Amino acid sequence: MEVLINAAYLVASAMFILALKRLSSPRTARTGNLIGALGMLIGVLATLLHRSILSFEGILIGIVIGSGLGAVMALRVPMTAMPQMVALLNGFGGAASAVVAIAEMERLHLHHSIAQASTALTGSIAASVIIGTITFTGSVIAFAKLQEILSGRPIVLPFHHGWNALQGIAILALVTLLLLQQRVWPEATVLELFYLLTAISAVLGVMMVIPIGGADMPVVISFLNSLSGLAAASTGFVLSNYLLIIAGTLVGASGIILTNIMCTAMNRSLPNVLFGAVGAEAHLGGATDRIVRSTTAEDAAVILGYARSVIIVPGYGMAVAQAQHAVKKLTTLLQQRGVDVKFAIHPVAGRMPGHMNVLLAEADIPYDLLYDMEHINPEFEHTDVALVVGANDVVNPAARKDASSPLYGMPILDVDRARTVIVLKRSLNPGFAGVENELFYQPNTYMLFGDARGSLEAIAEALKSV
Ligand code: TAP
Repeated sequence: MEVLINAAYLVASAMFILALKRLSSPRTARTGNLIGALGMLIGVLATLLHRSILSFEGILIGIVIGSGLGAVMALRVPMTAMPQMVALLNGFGGAASAVVAIAEMERLHLHHSIAQASTALTGSIAASVIIGTITFTGSVIAFAKLQEILSGRPIVLPFHHGWNALQGIAILALVTLLLLQQRVWPEATVLELFYLLTAISAVLGVMMVIPIGGADMPVVISFLNSLSGLAAASTGFVLSNYLLIIAGTLVGASGIILTNIMCTAMNRSLPNVLFGAVGAEAHLGGATDRIVRSTTAEDAAVILGYARSVIIVPGYGMAVAQAQHAVKKLTTLLQQRGVDVKFAIHPVAGRMPGHMNVLLAEADIPYDLLYDMEHINPEFEHTDVALVVGANDVVNPAARKDASSPLYGMPILDVDRARTVIVLKRSLNPGFAGVENELFYQPNTYMLFGDARGSLEAIAEALKSV
């Protein structure tokens, strides 16, 4: 049986890797998702054959409750609330690892065998409980910030990083004591130390995430996702379960790669996101006595209708306005007039990885119209109109030109190089980074103020009579 289970785990692991490969492109993502889910099913079924399973009742109750909750969440949660949902799911993953580690420690205590446990086992249990608990409490705070139960602003306590460092040192000291004294001290004392370790890790998870601004949460969630994978991998060592070790490591590695991609695209380092408390106040430039050219939907329709090439740049505002279907409608109308329409996707446009791709896919906008930053940037200078739909930081030329700007060095979409720029947003307010945008004052930029969906629908209507 052992051989059969391990063979099934090998197949499941190969399917996870294949799934990740296919998830890297929107075209193959659906089958990737299916292959991953199938791999998970094989993994779960194989685990159910394991001889150490004592009763199936509890497992069955868990499956019914978990699947019920999962199905309701999948059907009910709107696309805009996806980041919070992912935060919760990561948190549950971390909690599951921590609970398994606690149960394993309790089991050792019950059989009076803590003293006999190998250092590797105690070390893995400690790693599972520390990383799992930090992931759980950190993810709950991330969820609360995104759901606006807690303020999105950084909450910084006096001597905050000092407290965190002290907790880190306490955790290291407790682990060292656990490993050195597990054979010497009474089992009850070792168990108490273990609970203290769990409690301090839980507090550290909260303290790590509260000073981070709400808009940085996607990076934090991706980082916590990576941690949840590492927690699962160490639980794999606790249970000697190969599938958990492999799957956990895959989640850990892919999570940290995604975190790195997001940090690079924002020109920030992970320590700056985690410890920088960014997002507290806006950095607005000097007097705004420069000229802003505002336009109307009718005029915008004329400019777009007579263009040969248009690049649409979606941003967070498109998500807020739920304007993706209006974008699709305008795209179709422009294409019918023979206009060449493309979409420029910045890696951190919006508030979660792949945010724009998901919204545009929801509106059935073909993938082959979507271009990433490196491929589309050289095209702006040969393009008639760049239509910016609720994007701000990702098109701010200060990132290229102004060394004093917090955005300086962040790779941006070069919309300012297009012949004409039309920006759809409600005001001249800054975006997430709180930085004023020079683009709005450029002589070739026209601002169409209003909700992006309303503006797009008005342009589409006006286009019919152009
Ligand atoms: P932002 O710079 O946040 O700008 C979005 C703009 O949308 C705002 O200036 C806002 O202006 C406008 N807006 C809001 N609601 C609107 C509506 N209903 N209709 C029209 N416009 C509306 O967005 P971006 O350019 O997409 O940049 C994303 C930012 O988020 C970057 O700074 C990035 O670093 C950060 N970030 C992203 C991620 C990921 S993974 N995507 C992760 C962490 C941080 P008005 O208020 O004037 O309308």
